[in-house]
Amino acid sequence: MKPTEVLEREHQVIEQVAGACGTCAAALRKGVRIPFDILRSTVAFLRVYGDQYHNQEEERLFALLREKGVPAGSCPIATLEHEKQKLATMIDQLSAAVDIYIESAGAVNATLIDTLQAVAEFYPDHIWKENYLLLPMADKVFTEADQQALAQSLRTIDSDRGEAARRIVEEFNAAIFQCSESASIWDQAAIA
Ligand SMILES: [Fe+2]
Ligand SMILES: [Fe+2]
Repeated sequence: MKPTEVLEREHQVIEQVAGACGTCAAALRKGVRIPFDILRSTVAFLRVYGDQYHNQEEERLFALLREKGVPAGSCPIATLEHEKQKLATMIDQLSAAVDIYIESAGAVNATLIDTLQAVAEFYPDHIWKENYLLLPMADKVFTEADQQALAQSLRTIDSDRGEAARRIVEEFNAAIFQCSESASIWDQAAIA
């Protein structure tokens, strides 16, 4: 599997969690209480899998593109870099909103609903740009040797952080499955 395909596969995992954020937002709007574990593991997923693992890998891809002479200000790189900053703020907001929701025993949820919705809307658009613009561009620009260098970088990151990232996916799934009373809501949310 090419390294760009590895990143694309990870996008599917991230999109599932983004979808679960939308499910949570919709459920909260209907007055359903969301188990705290689901919210905690969503934040942990976005930080550990999304930021520390997947973003780290994408950083290597960006660095390699720059080395190949692709200008940092070009489309879609500039947009994606900007969105990454926006995402970091959003995850901090989500984490704070989850803390407030838990501390208030589920009573204070307005910011939580808005932020979950924002995360759910952010990812499909961001990932679309990566899957259809960034990764195809990388496949065109990179030589076979570049692909191998990127693959090696991804293997190094994976040996460092892959295990923690996969554990977070398991914890997220466990949190969803534990919520058996509302199984119909959560069935589709678990990562396949
Ligand atoms: Fe990505
Ligand atoms: Fe990204």
